[in-house]
Amino acid sequence: MSADTKLQDRFGRRVEYLRLSVTDRCDLRCTYCIPEGFKNFEEPAHWLSFDEIERVIGAFARMGVSKVRLTGGEPLLRRKLPELVQRLNALNGVTDLSLSTNATQLARHAAELKKAGISRLNISLDSLDPERFSQIVRRDCLDQVLAGLMAAKEAGFAPIKINMVVMKDVNDNEIDDMVAFCIEHDFTLRMIEAMPMGETGRNAQFLDLQPVKERLQQRFGLIDGVMAGGGPARYLKTPNGAFTVGFITPLSQHFCDTCNRVRLSVDGTLYLCLGQDESLELRPLLRAGASDIELEEAIRAAIELKPQRHEFRENPGQVVRFMSLTGG
Ligand code: 5AD
Ligand code: SF4
Repeated sequence: MSADTKLQDRFGRRVEYLRLSVTDRCDLRCTYCIPEGFKNFEEPAHWLSFDEIERVIGAFARMGVSKVRLTGGEPLLRRKLPELVQRLNALNGVTDLSLSTNATQLARHAAELKKAGISRLNISLDSLDPERFSQIVRRDCLDQVLAGLMAAKEAGFAPIKINMVVMKDVNDNEIDDMVAFCIEHDFTLRMIEAMPMGETGRNAQFLDLQPVKERLQQRFGLIDGVMAGGGPARYLKTPNGAFTVGFITPLSQHFCDTCNRVRLSVDGTLYLCLGQDESLELRPLLRAGASDIELEEAIRAAIELKPQRHEFRENPGQVVRFMSLTGG
């Protein structure tokens, strides 16, 4: 591939990572994400089919996107997901397939997903206390999630990252327990600041993670770790390297300068930024029989629209989409 076929935006950022939402549905209703009672899910006729997804990812892969993460909603709710994984894994140029899940269904699917080609897993887990967990996700299922987590460990996924959205007076007193849990099981812990995405995200009890970072740094003698693949997390590790903790701090310290990603929602809308509205609908193109070249040209033009940064802090009312609609 010559250098100029690769995707690069107006700010010189290479786009090499695509987050693919395979469904906007979810079996949980995390307080900071999907409103309880929400009904306005995308209609199935608008979901990209596996054939359509394969075509789009194939086009991205020809332009240098090598990393794909399946997200949702809850991706394991999409039927026959392992088949899609296999098909994407077989595409030329796709070298890294990963999955973000809430793990409620993972016990049943972990081994099959590993076999199909998922290498890395991110699992959402905000609390280890059954009651508090239920309050946050509005369902009673911590046992199920922990069983999913252990099945993933058993299946040999590495690394397994635990995503914890830390909220003031909700679960911030559980940080040390979560650290101990992750050390015990050899998971990477990633603490995330709640983002003002939609009404739900805006109403979340935001907590600035910088002081938390300093406290943990002192307590465990943490040192700077690797900056993994242009991703948003800043990592620290214990001096013996046994434990890694990441901080995703879109509000207190944003990371837009090194952003390398775009997002494709289940209806085929390409979003250029989590916190901005710039987007391009690929579904009409696909369904009107666009050629590969036309598809690539449309994607290339969309990348030109990628904004410099989100404005979660300056303009928190701006994003009306909550996380599961864009693909987290
Ligand atoms: N702010 C921060 N993280 C969020 N997630 C969902 N909504 C928000 C929000 N408003 C996270 C979930 C999960 C990931 C897919 O997105 O906790 O870890
Ligand atoms: Fe579902 Fe994830 Fe949103 Fe929670 S954060 S409601 S698990 S999509």
